[in-house]
Amino acid sequence: MSDPTEISEPVVSAAVEAALAAIAAANDSAALKTVRTEHTGEASPLARLNALMRSVPGNQKAAAGKLLGQARGAVAQAFSARETAITEAEATAQLAAETVDVTAAASTWKAGARHPLTLLQERVADVFVGMGWEVAEGPELESEWFNFDALNFDEDHPARAMQDTFFIDPPDAHLVLRTHTSPVQLRALLSRELPVYVVAPGRVFRTDELDATHTPVFHQIEGIAIDKGLTMAHLRGTLDHFVKAMFGPEAKVRLRPNYFPFTEPSAELDLWHPTFKDGARWIEWGGCGMVNANVLRSAGIDPEVYSGFAFGVGVERALMFRNDVKDMHDMVEGDVRFSQQYGMTV
Ligand code: DAH
Repeated sequence: MSDPTEISEPVVSAAVEAALAAIAAANDSAALKTVRTEHTGEASPLARLNALMRSVPGNQKAAAGKLLGQARGAVAQAFSARETAITEAEATAQLAAETVDVTAAASTWKAGARHPLTLLQERVADVFVGMGWEVAEGPELESEWFNFDALNFDEDHPARAMQDTFFIDPPDAHLVLRTHTSPVQLRALLSRELPVYVVAPGRVFRTDELDATHTPVFHQIEGIAIDKGLTMAHLRGTLDHFVKAMFGPEAKVRLRPNYFPFTEPSAELDLWHPTFKDGARWIEWGGCGMVNANVLRSAGIDPEVYSGFAFGVGVERALMFRNDVKDMHDMVEGDVRFSQQYGMTV
């Protein structure tokens, strides 16, 4: 368009019409951007007409100003209406283009993983089921009687205080979060006919802070066998088979004298770990012994007729030295990437 030379009705109208026509013809935001430059920007006819206001004689300024003002207002209004319409249309089109069918089958399906602590407990259970044992469970919220008294802990025996126990309110309910899986010994005896061969994996609780080697919630596996004529030799033989199944044919056990109220004699259970990462070595794994006659009596069993053995081992500890897990945090944080390293078997 040639330079306008005067602010007159026909000149202004022509500029307005050209602008409105361009606005109406723009059908996307790119086109609208061009329209903005050409019809409302500094170099547009209307802007250049506006620049002529300076030279309009004083008595005509008001009329010329009104004419131009209305013209620019009309163009600005049309422009913004078109802009709103185009923005909305484009947003709708984008939404339609990016629609996700949430009901469609996913094209990549990520398998989760079972927790290695679960896998390890199942593996231990399998080893014992293979020897004809049963798998049992007991409650995590346990009565003090099962957790301590029936296991021959004296009322004020230091061992009772030794285990840092979560006691549950009210105190006269005498409930605790079980501090070990040993109460399942009694529960297994009370709910079965003799002989009894039972393993009991499960969660136990102590008032420890979570750090690299402790956690207030952890797992143990308890075993108890009561029959006629069971001796320490049966205990050794059973544990020996157990550790070989878990740690290879060169694994073996060593029993060192110890004290537990519920076994007599009692022993510390050490394991010869032939494939330990830093070289074969003895590792302390748990406790065991011949079931104390008082425990048998708590279950109404005659210790003159029946005898048996029991043992308890830590599952987290086993995962640490068997699968080289260095930090307990990894076991409790629930990050699937940790579990996925183990696949479906440990
Ligand atoms: N309950 C014991 C603990 O948590 C471990 C234990 C020791 C279990 C000797 C047994 C046993 O069955 O005979 O420290």
